[in-house]
Parts: sequence; structure tokens; C-alpha cells
Amino acid sequence: MYRAPRGTRDILPQEQQYWEFIRDSIRRTCALYGYKRIDTPIFEETALFARGIGAGTDIVEKEMYTFKDKGGDSLTLLPEVTASVMRAYLEHGFHVLPQPVKLYSILPVFRYERPQAGRFRQHYQFNCEAIGVQDPALDTEVIALAWRFYEGLGLKGLSLQLNSIGDSICRPSYIEALVEYYRGREGQICSDCRPRLARNPLRLLDCKNEACQPIIEAAPKSFDFLCPECAEHFASLQKCLDLLEIPYQFNHRLVRGLDYYTKTVFEVWAAGIGAQNAVAGGGRYDGLAKEIGGKDTPAMGFASGLERIIMTMQSQGIEVPPWPQPQLFLAHHGREARRESLRLADRLRKAGFRAFLSYGGRSLKAQMKEADRQEATYALILGEKEMRGGKITVREMASGREAQVAMEEVEGWLRERLKGDIW
Ligand code: HAM
Repeated sequence: MYRAPRGTRDILPQEQQYWEFIRDSIRRTCALYGYKRIDTPIFEETALFARGIGAGTDIVEKEMYTFKDKGGDSLTLLPEVTASVMRAYLEHGFHVLPQPVKLYSILPVFRYERPQAGRFRQHYQFNCEAIGVQDPALDTEVIALAWRFYEGLGLKGLSLQLNSIGDSICRPSYIEALVEYYRGREGQICSDCRPRLARNPLRLLDCKNEACQPIIEAAPKSFDFLCPECAEHFASLQKCLDLLEIPYQFNHRLVRGLDYYTKTVFEVWAAGIGAQNAVAGGGRYDGLAKEIGGKDTPAMGFASGLERIIMTMQSQGIEVPPWPQPQLFLAHHGREARRESLRLADRLRKAGFRAFLSYGGRSLKAQMKEADRQEATYALILGEKEMRGGKITVREMASGREAQVAMEEVEGWLRERLKGDIW
């Protein structure tokens, strides 16, 4: 028997109510903040990610689903959405629109990672990008959007982790200091970290290995090395967050796994879902547009994994409205009644009632059992007696009470009782 590929999962009907709820909440939040929806293709030219995310990152080196198509082009399933959205912004000349251009998407993302709780090879991201403006107030707004979105979902135990990793002016001196600090300590760090020292020193700060922790704690901190412009940006961001009373924690270890970030980086962590607790990650990426061949365009954004949001909601006991149940179950007995119930179901659905029909010629008793299992509010029973008398037996399933309703009056009868829940 086939199974879903490792690291992927089916989103089954019993979970869909969470997905619907979150999508609704995303639509609402994005409208409040002035974001418009964009859907990019789910694959792009491989070079877009290699250049955009950075050739030395884990994502590009080890995790991309890359393939050659029949025409010989190298394509890659989205390993994230930001580079795609920036590509679209540049391709469609969005710089002529009022800036910032604010775009959101809900797209599947593919990474060949080691699967574990909260980490999948295909996951869905709610992604927000605000492109074209360099202003700490915009960083604040993006962070606030994420924060208020989670608050609105009812998530508790959230923590906003904040850092600034500087820009192309001040970061080189920070990296130099970091490398300098690690030299002479090579013997004390783990085997994963040793190659990082030469290839991607910022990632040293991300290491989870026990042995590396005291060394990371005492390492030089990026916010101590910021140039005046970056330092001012960071200070101003903090003031704005204070103004909105959004609490944050400085985290000098927060460097993120993608190379395009400049200045602000942040994550939102949630309680109760284990080690993979980042429900959102993002930051400013003023260099990405140029890196992928466009003109200099500042930008700020974040993405949030929908599976992790749902895991958090479930672990915190947050309930969402149930999927709409059928209201009506049409049971029938005899050929004439079967034809009539087919017609009636069509009529009632057109009128906005959620109706189920019985199939397969089962006994009335079996059909009533089915109505019960489907949790229908009313069963509409059409037997030979009903056909002769031109009436339908309507049974309220919860109480077992029955009424005889004339065929032509059934719609009005139901409308009276189900008002407020007719689509
Ligand atoms: P990221 O931190 O790699 O950032 O991913 C964003 C979020 O996606 C994470 O915080 C997490 O909730 C979710 N996520 C990531 N990988 C997985 C996985 N394997 N399984 C389940 N969930 C996952 C980015 O992708 C950046 N493009 C964010 C961004 C947008 N920066 C600026 N704009």
C-alpha cells in the first residue's frame, strides 16, 4: 500500500476547520493592514533561490527539491516565498505603484529536512512582504501584524525574539570579531560548527549542541557592532514596539537561516509545541532585490508555518467553529419516493439548505441510522404513504418528534426553523 511521502501529510477533513479558520483570519488581518494577495508559481528557476537565499545556506546546499524539466531547465519547488515575491515585484514593475507594496500569500513550501514534530518536507506558509520603504515604522508594522494575528487566534505563551544583524557596512567587522573570537576555541566546538567557522560564521550562533552553548553565550554580539545608521534603525524600532506595547526579548543568537537579511531579524516562538517552536520568522532584506538583478529596493517581511500555528492552537485547547454539519437527511422508500427525494434535495440545496441524500436502496431503518451518524438536524422521510398523501414526514433527530408537512410547504417550514443558518 502506498503512503504519503516521508515528511509530508494529508490534511484530513477533521483538521480542515482549523485551516479554514486561519485562512479567514489571515484574509481579515491582511485587509486591516493593507496587504493584497499574490500567488506565485510553486516552482521557479533554481538560480533565483541560489542567489536570493545564498549559496552557502543549508536550504540551498541541502534542502531544495531541484529537478530538470523535459526542456532541460533547472527548476526548484519553493523552499520559501520571499525570493519569489520579490521576483514578481521586479518582473511586474511594481516600483511604479505607491510604496510600500504590501503582498501576502498562502503557499506550500518544500524543504528536504529531517522530519520531526513540527518540521515537514512540505509545509504551508502565510507569507507577508512590504516592499519599497526603508523605515523602522514599517518593520514595526510587519512585526505588529504577526503579533496581533496570533493574539487574535488566541495563542498564549508567545515570545517575540528580536535582533539586528547590521548591513553590508557594519556586518563585516562583526563577522571578523566573531571569527577572531572562535579562533583558538576550535577544539571546544562541535564538529558541525568547525566548517561553519570558515563558510558561514553567523550560523555558529544558531548551534543547538550542548558543548557550544557557553561559547555562544560569551560570543561578541551583533548589536554591539552596528554602524550609526543600523543602530538608529534598531533603537527606533524598539521605541515603536514600546509604543504599541508589544513585548520583545533581545536575542543576540538570532541570525536566521537565509542570507538576505539586513538590520532587523525576528522570530515569534510559541509555548507547548516542542523544539520546533518558531511560528514565525522574518526581518528586513534591503539587499535581495539587487542580488537577484533588480534595482536597490528595501523590504521587510515574515512567514509563518500554518501547521505550527494549528499545533499550537490544538495543544493550547483553542477551539474553532466546527465544519458546517448537514441540516437535512432525505430518506426514501420506493421508486417514486426516490425520484422525488432527488428532486427535493436539489430544490432545497438551491434554496441554501445543507442536504444529504441516501443512496444504495437501503431500508428506511438503516437510512435513519445514517441520518443519526451524519448528525443531521432533520430527517425528511418520503415513503409510499407520504407520496400518496402529498406530505413529508419531518423528524427532528435530537428529540425524535415528527411532523407531517405538505410537500409544497416544506421549504417554508424549514426556513422558519433553521433561519440564521441558511446559505
Ligand atoms: P523561515 O524561518 O525559514 O523563514 O520560515 C518561516 C516559518 O515557516 C518558520 O517560522 C516556521 O513557522 C515555518 N517553517 C519553516 N520550515 C518549516 C518546516 N520544515 N516545517 C514546518 N514549518 C516550517 C522564511 O522562509 C523567510 N522567507 C521568511 C521571510 C519572509 N523573511 C522575510 N520575508
